[in-house]
Amino acid sequence: MARLPRLLRTAGARRCFSAKTHYDETAVYKYASQQIKPVSLGQLLKYRQLPLSAENILDSVSYSQAELPVRLAKRVISFHRLPFIVGTNPHIAQVYSHYYEAFDRLYAFPPITDLDAEWAFTRTLERQTQLLANVIPEIAQGFLECKQYMPREGRTAFISELIRSRIGLRVIGEQHVALSFQFRNEQGTSNKQHQHQPDTQHMDDVWVGAIHTKLLPARMMNQCAQMVQNMCEMYYSTAPSYYVDGDVDETISYIPSHFEYITCELLKNAFRATVDFSARSGRSAHPPIQITITKGDGYVGVRIRDQGGGISKPNMGNVFEYSWSSVQSSDAAGELGNGGLAPSGMSLQTNLALQQGVGGPIAGLGFGLPMARLYAEYFGGSLDIVSMEGYGCDVFLKLRSIEGSVELKQI
Ligand SMILES: Nc1ncnc2c1ncn2[C@@H]1O[C@H](COP(=O)(O)OP(=O)(O)O)[C@@H](O)[C@H]1O
Ligand SMILES: [Mg+2]
Repeated sequence: MARLPRLLRTAGARRCFSAKTHYDETAVYKYASQQIKPVSLGQLLKYRQLPLSAENILDSVSYSQAELPVRLAKRVISFHRLPFIVGTNPHIAQVYSHYYEAFDRLYAFPPITDLDAEWAFTRTLERQTQLLANVIPEIAQGFLECKQYMPREGRTAFISELIRSRIGLRVIGEQHVALSFQFRNEQGTSNKQHQHQPDTQHMDDVWVGAIHTKLLPARMMNQCAQMVQNMCEMYYSTAPSYYVDGDVDETISYIPSHFEYITCELLKNAFRATVDFSARSGRSAHPPIQITITKGDGYVGVRIRDQGGGISKPNMGNVFEYSWSSVQSSDAAGELGNGGLAPSGMSLQTNLALQQGVGGPIAGLGFGLPMARLYAEYFGGSLDIVSMEGYGCDVFLKLRSIEGSVELKQI
């Protein structure tokens, strides 16, 4: 019987693992001790010439099968190294259990040599990558609660590494899943389930796995702003308007979920700040949020301009720190005082739905800016804020088209 790892002996972790009585610690350490094998985006994109062959799919799955358990095992071990009390936090223990489960499910597959086995692996991989896709609000809540138990540097290092490695895990995993669906759709062997995959529904030449090669930033910004406006309306019972201008026909090669995550976080900040500042300054109407798209050489620029009062100089040094927020997370509208903007009779269900939205609730977790910057920089972009205190913020996002840097970028 394998010795239980430290985290598993904690109360919080035990709750998560109540259904699991055996834990193969040896396997985790064995995989974690292997070197990861970085892959360039160019290698991942090498199957862009249609049609896909069975060899392509088996080749693609062999990399995922060899690589993902190693990367997952390293994350599992990193959780073991957290201070004991942090590991007992139910949110963090929950995320740990997702990582462990993903490792456990994937490493157990025997070597894949035929398409049936590949399909079984792909379905498991799809489920596990979906579970891992939703861990950020949970991690953010966990670290918010444990802020005092871990020094800032340790926290930043753990979270940044977790998020960076998660991007790699997801890109590799989703890329294979998308290719596998694409292959079956091309073969005409797809059943209803395949056809209903949103990202693979019309796998034509604009999709290469999870990467969209003709993403329209203006359209994405409109969709995200609409969603955040609804969220703001639901939470504060009021929301500013917005408009998108500039190079609205410009396209970029990017992963839509990353684009969506970054911009939703920036928009949540702009909408919240505008509503907040209107209440504090007593102005009668919210000024609109301006979203401007610009075309650069190999990149797209997005500027989000709000009149939400800006960020004070002392706060400016903190806004990119994980778990730093000027908003109370338990009641994000609390700071708005009695301005009539507190959440109006939100049901528990609505509140939960908001937590599930892209990146979690509208504000209060203190994860939006640091994560958005990490995501932007991951593919060679940048995120900068210029604040005019007492007026508003200009947020400058630069996203490098993935196509331009595929050979260089290792994940
Ligand atoms: N557009 C903005 N206008 C004013 N303040 C902002 C803006 N964007 C970010 N901030 C400040 O930066 C802090 C951190 O932002 P973020 O990381 O997104 O966390 P959260 O939104 O959960 O507070 C916010 O709490 C707020 O004080
Ligand atoms: Mg935010």
